[in-house]
Amino acid sequence: MTSQHSHPSPPEEGELVTLDHDGSAVAVTMLDGELHAFDDTCPHAGCSLADGELDGRTVVCPCHLARFDIATGAVVEGPARSGLTIWSARVTDGALEIRQEEGDEQPADPPAASAGNAASSSGPDMDITVLIEREHDAIRRQFEAIKVLSDTHELDTAWTALTELLEIHASGEESLLYPKLARAADDGVEEAEHAVRDHNEIRDSVRAVHEHDVGSEAWWQAFRKAREVNEEHLQEEERDALPSFRDSTERARREELGREWVGFHEEHQHGRGLNGDDVDPGAVIDDLGDASSTA
Ligand code: FES
Repeated sequence: MTSQHSHPSPPEEGELVTLDHDGSAVAVTMLDGELHAFDDTCPHAGCSLADGELDGRTVVCPCHLARFDIATGAVVEGPARSGLTIWSARVTDGALEIRQEEGDEQPADPPAASAGNAASSSGPDMDITVLIEREHDAIRRQFEAIKVLSDTHELDTAWTALTELLEIHASGEESLLYPKLARAADDGVEEAEHAVRDHNEIRDSVRAVHEHDVGSEAWWQAFRKAREVNEEHLQEEERDALPSFRDSTERARREELGREWVGFHEEHQHGRGLNGDDVDPGAVIDDLGDASSTA
């Protein structure tokens, strides 16, 4: 045993909760009267699995629909490539006890999906505005996770993963959301152009981080700046652009775009096919797409 902690109130049947366990986010659920505990952070892009759904004995990530076996941690379906660490969970004297065993490892090979018979659901909300907000949370989690790292190799790996996600996120919005926002909302053109300019500022800040040795004081300074610029954009988008789009676009269309959003992430895994160059706001607004597909 490496660590053991008690937490009040175990989850209800089919409920997913997150616990902070010595700085690790652990998702816990009860299925058929049996407790299951596993990493809360999706290894694909860092979304919280406790915000996802149970489908039989799999948990479905709310961001890009990766599925994991909750008993083994194995990937049942992509886009995640690596599985989850499984934790031991039991109830002792009415309190939930979580512990990590020596030798706990992520499963190497995805097994076939096993069908359960307890919790099931209609699946995660596919509204593109919801998926974008979830990814905002994942981006914030990745920035936070980097802040506590000191090993240069770990920093480099984590920063690379975050920059890939930032570019996929920005390009996805520029392809799927902003052209539709420009058409749908009253002040959509201004909001969309402003958002693309924000993206370019984030891209500049990312390039500035790459100019320094990983882990150096100058690197950390540039990292903090990138985090600040990014956070300003996320807050603005959550306050203005996303509510505007939600108000002006039918739910069915938002869900259709959400499925395209997930497909975009599959197509551009690890930033494949995206160059990170600045984008002309006018070109995004001009790309209004198929008029028949816009609400
Ligand atoms: S973050 Fe979980 S599937 Fe992408």
